[in-house]
Amino acid sequence: MSTTAPEPVITAGIGARSVPVHLGAGALALVGPLLAGAGAGDGALVVVDGGVAYAGEQVAQSCREAGLRVAVISVPAGEASKNLGELERLSREAARAGIRRRDAVVAVGGGVVGDLAGFLAASYQRGVRLVQAPTTLLAMVDSSLGGKTGVDLPEGKNYVGAVYQPEAVVMDTSVLATLSARELSCGFAEVVKYGLLVGGELMDMVAAWPDLPGPDAELADLIRRCAECKLEVVAEDEFDLGRRAILNLGHTVGHGIEAAAGYDLYHHGEAISLGLLAALRVSEHSLDLAPEWRDRTAATLARHGLPVRLDPSVDVDQVVEIMSRDKKSDGRALNMVLLRAPGDVLTHQDPDPAVVRAAIEELA
Ligand SMILES: NC(=O)c1ccc[n+]([C@@H]2O[C@H](COP(=O)([O-])OP(=O)(O)OC[C@H]3O[C@@H](n4cnc5c(N)ncnc54)[C@H](O)[C@@H]3O)[C@@H](O)[C@H]2O)c1
Ligand SMILES: [Zn+2]
Repeated sequence: MSTTAPEPVITAGIGARSVPVHLGAGALALVGPLLAGAGAGDGALVVVDGGVAYAGEQVAQSCREAGLRVAVISVPAGEASKNLGELERLSREAARAGIRRRDAVVAVGGGVVGDLAGFLAASYQRGVRLVQAPTTLLAMVDSSLGGKTGVDLPEGKNYVGAVYQPEAVVMDTSVLATLSARELSCGFAEVVKYGLLVGGELMDMVAAWPDLPGPDAELADLIRRCAECKLEVVAEDEFDLGRRAILNLGHTVGHGIEAAAGYDLYHHGEAISLGLLAALRVSEHSLDLAPEWRDRTAATLARHGLPVRLDPSVDVDQVVEIMSRDKKSDGRALNMVLLRAPGDVLTHQDPDPAVVRAAIEELA
C-alpha cells in the first residue's frame, strides 16, 4: 500500500491554518498515511460511534499499517453521549492509552462523535492533533467542517465547547451505504439548504437528485460542492461573528419546531426541512422571492422523505415562543436568514412576526 496520501479535493485556508479535505470511496484508508506523513507523534486515538464500528476498525487498521500506536474507544450512538461525563471518560482513556501532546484523535462517526471527540482533541493536554472522519451525510456536509466542537449540558445544547480546526477531514462516501434512509434524508435537508444558499448549478443538481445516496462519483461531487460552500463561509468568519450566520437558513423556525416537538417527533434535518419552507415563505413576503422556489424545494424535500407539513401535534404558539426566546446576540427579534433568490442571501433579517407566524401556520 502506498504511504503517501493523494491531493485533497479541497484545501481551505482558515485563519493561519490550512484544512485539507479528502473525499471519496475508500478514503478512510488515508488516515494512517496522513498522520504518519505529518511526522509528529506516533499515537492515534480512534473515537468511533458504536453504530459504525467497522469504520473505526478500518481507520485503526490504516493507522497500524502506517506504524502508529493505536487505541480505539467506542462511544454509544446518540446525542446522549455528547456530555461532560463522556468527555471525562474519553480523556481518562486517552491518558491510560498514553496519548501525548503530539498524538492525534480521529473522530469516526456523525456529528455527535465529531463534536465530542473534536472537543476532546481541543482540550486534552490543551490540544492534540485532530482528524475528522465523518460517517453521516450531515457530518460530511456540515458538522465536520468549520471547527465547532463541544458537548451538551442539561441546561442547553452545545453549551461547552471550542472552535478547533482539524488537521484533515477524511470523508469516505462508501460508509453511507450503511446509513439509514432516515439519516440520509436528514443530511439531505442540509444539502438542500446549500442548494438554496449557492443557487445555480448546485440548486439544479439538488432538485434533480435521484434516490439517496445516489451514484458514488456524483455523490462525492455533491458533497464537495456543499463542503466548499461551508468552508468558504467559515474561512471568512471562523468565530461566527457575521457571515457565518447564513448557514442558519431554515434553522430559526427549524429549531423552534424541533424544540416544540420535544426533540422527539422530528430529527434535526426533518425540522430543518420545515424551517426551510417557512423561511422561503417569509422571503416571498419580505423580499419578493418567486414562489416557484418554494414549490420546487418542497417537491425535492418530499421526494426524499422529508416532511413538508407540520404535524398537528406541534403547537404553533409554542414554536413562535421558542423562536423569540432563542438567543438573540444582537437584540433583533427573530434574526432570520432570507433569500431574494437562490444564491442571493440576506442575514440578520427581522421580518414581521405576524408573517413568520403565518408561514408556520401554513405548514400545518
Ligand atoms: N459542529 C458543527 O458545526 C455541527 C453542525 C451541525 C450539527 N452538529 C451536531 O451534530 C450532531 C448530529 O449529527 P448526525 O446527524 O451526524 O447524528 P449522529 O452523530 O447521532 O449519527 C446519527 C446516527 O447514525 C449512526 N451512524 C453514523 N454513521 C453511520 C454509518 N455510516 N452507517 C450506519 N450508521 C451510522 C449513528 O450511530 C447514529 O445512530 C448533533 O449533536 C449536532 O449538534 C454539529
Ligand atoms: Zn442543521
